[in-house]
Amino acid sequence: MNKKTVRAGIVGAGFSASFHFEAIHKVHSTNVEIKGVHALEGAAAYAQKRDIAVYDSLERLLDDVDVIHCCATASAHEPIAIAALQRNKYVIVEKPLTGFFGDGSEDFNGEVFPKETAREKALASIERMLQAEKKSKGRILYAENWIYAPSIQKEREIIEKTGAQVLWIHAEEAHSGSHARTYAYWKYSGGGVMIGKGCHPLTAALYLKRVEGKARTGRPIRPQTVTARIHALTRMPGFRDEGHIRSNYFDIDDFSVMHVVFDDGTLATIFASDIILGGIHNWLEVAANNHRTLCNINPSTAMQTYNPVEANFQDIYVVEKIGTKQGWTCPSPDEDWFTGYPQEIEAFYRTVAYGEPVESDSGIAADCISTIYSAYVSAERNGAEVPIKTF
Ligand SMILES: NC(=O)c1ccc[n+]([C@@H]2O[C@H](COP(=O)([O-])OP(=O)(O)OC[C@H]3O[C@@H](n4cnc5c(N)ncnc54)[C@H](O)[C@@H]3O)[C@@H](O)[C@H]2O)c1
Repeated sequence: MNKKTVRAGIVGAGFSASFHFEAIHKVHSTNVEIKGVHALEGAAAYAQKRDIAVYDSLERLLDDVDVIHCCATASAHEPIAIAALQRNKYVIVEKPLTGFFGDGSEDFNGEVFPKETAREKALASIERMLQAEKKSKGRILYAENWIYAPSIQKEREIIEKTGAQVLWIHAEEAHSGSHARTYAYWKYSGGGVMIGKGCHPLTAALYLKRVEGKARTGRPIRPQTVTARIHALTRMPGFRDEGHIRSNYFDIDDFSVMHVVFDDGTLATIFASDIILGGIHNWLEVAANNHRTLCNINPSTAMQTYNPVEANFQDIYVVEKIGTKQGWTCPSPDEDWFTGYPQEIEAFYRTVAYGEPVESDSGIAADCISTIYSAYVSAERNGAEVPIKTF
């Protein structure tokens, strides 16, 4: 095959920009020319380490590329994505697609801000992005790695080939607290753990229900209502901080549960929290009429190691956010692969170069964000059932 060359740019120079860079180097269906990086902070160090150019303007970077990786803080996704689409470029947008990021005040407090208004503004942001995409020759490629995780893709095959009816999906993303400084503030993150982590298992559940509907009737099954609760456990006056869990959040939830009812009457229950020790806890379970599946994204027991001396593993990466390497652990032999990062980026480059269809598109991203903001409205009403607008 004559491989096409795709010119790429990176926006943002933090944590996610690093694993995107790694994943780009695993793309095999196209040649990739990385033109450079643009970021508010950290671009020079990022570029120097990787021997790429720094762009001080987003527009100049856009002029030089076919696709950008939007790895910036969530509050910047909408303007960056729209700028790319207006120039007919593809944009790989990190999660969450967009949201509501406050009223512009420095001391904005998302905890007490009315959630109906937050939802209205988030939905308007989604609309603007979808409109920009409609007018563009480029597309939004939504970087939801859970959709590309091999265990979720295997479950897709089982649902498609057996004509399964999925009755209940339950799933969780959790660990002991995100590293990013901005994560502590609603005004940068668009909410707390319910959006920050909950978007991953929720989007996987929305995806599998879409797959199910298309396989059996040709029509995707969509989310209809949501019931949710959120809590701020590390900000309780009585929380006893022993230093294992991040606890300096300003106005965000660190525990959440969303219970989604789909338009066929079936269910998904999604947990997300920042209070779980022992490494990342990412799993999804499917209860169908003809099978049951457990997707263990992290930890995976593909490998289990007993190490009696912590110091022996000093130079050995075991698995993300593990607190100790002593005793039994589940080292991930290829963590990025189990997580779906290289598969996701490979798929996006095939779309950019050869026009292949997108599994994780703006439609599923829009439904995810819409569900989560209806969930915030529900939580404000102590768990009342709230309708979800679908796109
Ligand atoms: N898929 C995943 O597993 C995963 C994991 C972590 C983060 N993320 C997502 O990636 C995004 C970035 O998170 P992170 O952890 O890399 O954050 P980070 O704080 O490590 O890095 C953010 C970068 O964005 C830059 N930035 C912010 N606003 C900008 C703007 N307007 N223009 C240009 N650059 C700007 C910052 O200067 C910084 O370099 C978030 O949306 C986050 O939710 C996804």
